[in-house]
Amino acid sequence: MSDQTKSPALEAETTSRIAPSFDKGLVHTIAAESAMSFIDGERGVLEYVGISIDELARGSTFEECVFLLWNKRLPTASELEIFQERIRDEYDLPDPMWEMIRHIPKYATPMSALRTLGSALGMFDPEADFSSPEHAERKAIHLLARAPAIVAGFDRHRKGLPFLRPDPRMSIVRSFLYMLKGEKPGKLTSHALDVVFILHAEHGLNASTFASMVTISTLSDMYSALATAIGTLKGPLHGGANMGVLKMLQDIGSIDRVEPYILDKLQRKEKVMGFGHRVYKAHDPRATYLREFAHDLAEETGNMDLYELTVKIEEVMEREVGHRGIHPNVDFYSAITFISLGIEVDFFTPIFAMSRIAGWAGHCIEQLSDNKLMRPRARYTGPHNVPYVPLDQR
Ligand code: CMC
Repeated sequence: MSDQTKSPALEAETTSRIAPSFDKGLVHTIAAESAMSFIDGERGVLEYVGISIDELARGSTFEECVFLLWNKRLPTASELEIFQERIRDEYDLPDPMWEMIRHIPKYATPMSALRTLGSALGMFDPEADFSSPEHAERKAIHLLARAPAIVAGFDRHRKGLPFLRPDPRMSIVRSFLYMLKGEKPGKLTSHALDVVFILHAEHGLNASTFASMVTISTLSDMYSALATAIGTLKGPLHGGANMGVLKMLQDIGSIDRVEPYILDKLQRKEKVMGFGHRVYKAHDPRATYLREFAHDLAEETGNMDLYELTVKIEEVMEREVGHRGIHPNVDFYSAITFISLGIEVDFFTPIFAMSRIAGWAGHCIEQLSDNKLMRPRARYTGPHNVPYVPLDQR
């Protein structure tokens, strides 16, 4: 919104003369405006620029969704082609970056490699500090295009395999799978991962998006903003939950152990990973879509035992805590999807990150086009008027 179109009420809200209210965890705070995604947590609705996530997952591609999110409309066929070419032209890493991957300790995680090398990309961009929305979009494409080479390259390095360069004839997801697995991916696998990328591409002001917006609102650069976001996504309450779900499936092991395991966790007031959401108090539409999708995938890939275990966990959780608005979130059925695709556990969160670059970058571009420094306050709870005692008298 430009200054001219700001309503007097909104203008008043943004002045510091209004007494700030305390809102732990910013649960009740609307901190920005965005035209990218609409979420109705009570009805379980998610739309990208007005189009339901279900329709997009069934009919679109990841690249088309990125165009939609950044341009607020679907592309024509030729626009999509040009956009895809812009991304594919940027796939490969500069040679020193491949060299940097060789120096990462093999015990590091792919998520740490992505955070650190995603940020390092900025050092190879002479325009890294240019902060116009146009420059920001160019850098966003840069990161979106190159993140897969970083993640797959790191995996090949830790396994002692030679690097494979990205293939500019392939989509982002196909080229990633090719670099990771060393062979042209099958249709089922690449379609399934593309759907996962679509479902994770954008989700309002979640913690990592908000973190990236705080960084960009200081007029820092896009690389720093996205590195902030990757670091934030890593946490088990956010993007790391999908790895927690797999760990839980492994810990439970067999269907007869689901009931005692979940009841015990709930009794000890521990969180069950893959359940609950800050916004969705009905169902998470991404989880609803993935449940059906994961079923077909598990059937085709011989993972029905694990799928049934997953369904049983949902059944027990629904019975115990469903009435409190705690339902499966996107991470719950992502885990079984990734397992069916043969993707290793520590790739779950980096895959989330690679697709969420779309949302992070889109919000940063929106923020730059009408910037206001993000700067909440803390309620002070410490003492006052405490005399300073010199060191030798303490
Ligand atoms: N298992 C058991 N109890 C839960 C769960 C859960 N997964 N989630 C919430 N609760 C309970 C919680 O213990 C609390 O109970 P009480 O009022 O008795 O103390 C109540 O529900 C409210 O929970 P909260 O953590 O204060 O609510 P929140 O809005 O801050 O939490 C959440 C949202 C996602 C952090 C939380 O549901 C959670 O920790 N879930 C598990 C981690 C997870 O799956 N995260 C992925 C989120 S979706 C992907 C993404 O966007 O990153």
